[in-house]
Amino acid sequence: MAIEASGLSKTYKKNNVKANIELNLQVQEGEIFGLLGPNGAGKTTFVKQVVGLLKPSSGGLKVMGEDVIANPDAVRSRLNYMSQNIFAVWHLKVREVIEYSGRLRGLSLGEAKKQTKILLEELGIEEHAEKAIFHLSGGLRQLAGFGAAFIGKPKLLVLDEPTSALDVARRRKLWDKVRELNQKEGVTVLLVTHSVIEAEHLLDRLAIIQDGRLKAMGSPGELKQRVDNRLRLEIIPHNGGLPAGLTRDLGQVGEVFEANNRVVVLASRGTLQKAVGLVEQYGLDCIDDFRIGTASLEDVYLKLGGGILGAA
Ligand SMILES: Nc1ncnc2c1ncn2[C@@H]1O[C@H](COP(=O)(O)OP(=O)(O)OP(=O)(O)O)[C@@H](O)[C@H]1O
Ligand SMILES: [Mg+2]
Repeated sequence: MAIEASGLSKTYKKNNVKANIELNLQVQEGEIFGLLGPNGAGKTTFVKQVVGLLKPSSGGLKVMGEDVIANPDAVRSRLNYMSQNIFAVWHLKVREVIEYSGRLRGLSLGEAKKQTKILLEELGIEEHAEKAIFHLSGGLRQLAGFGAAFIGKPKLLVLDEPTSALDVARRRKLWDKVRELNQKEGVTVLLVTHSVIEAEHLLDRLAIIQDGRLKAMGSPGELKQRVDNRLRLEIIPHNGGLPAGLTRDLGQVGEVFEANNRVVVLASRGTLQKAVGLVEQYGLDCIDDFRIGTASLEDVYLKLGGGILGAA
């Protein structure tokens, strides 16, 4: 077992925030496992305990068979962690950050240099190798962070929102690279994300967490069965809200969720056209935009009582 949390709780003493509450979850060796949840759900708090940077308030936590609470150092040396706020080492050059990370993980100087060169090429950042981190754009910084996380082939790779600043093409390339490390080298991956698309593309299993608690766990396919393969109509209302009559009538046709100035209607395949008909009937000037798609992990999340996460 790569990660085993049992009844894991973390309360920050200074503000008494219960960031993790009785979390029970297991990550198998060889899995790409994700944590999905809104801002403030407690994802980073969980991850920091896994990598031994934060001490749990209660409960048990084992990583690669080691008790992290008793022996955080033993765990730290066996995993690579890419934090959400990537660098404390602003003045270092990209090449140095990657190379030193390799050295810290026990590579010889020659091997660290060799792997750094390969990673710079693979990540497409050779031309930035001699630039200091603080000179880079957010996306390039994230790529340098990947270099530092990938070097030295860890057993466990922990990535906290690693692609949030990347453009779509680079994001896909990085997903491929993570999957390759997982499949060819057997690296276990724990990945935090807000992105439903990232979750559906990359994860073998995931946990949805909200307000510090585990809400659901399973493969993307298993979780989507909770929304019975329904269709979704997403409406962006003009001026923030739909006419009350329309919302009521849509509720007769399917399940309606409202958040962040968006309205989502989940309906079975045969009835979605009724929902579209109702929107037309009330007049298209009450909406800015609408789109139809298949139900996604975001809809599972809506059904669990969460808000709307955002499409990307
Ligand atoms: N060092 C800290 N001291 C006190 N409270 C904290 C600390 N770090 C996080 N919190 C609080 O704990 C809760 C969970 O925060 P956490 O950073 O784990 O969330 P998250 O799921 O990673 O959110 P995001 O998606 O925004 O990164 C929040 O209410 C946050 O304000
Ligand atoms: Mg976070």
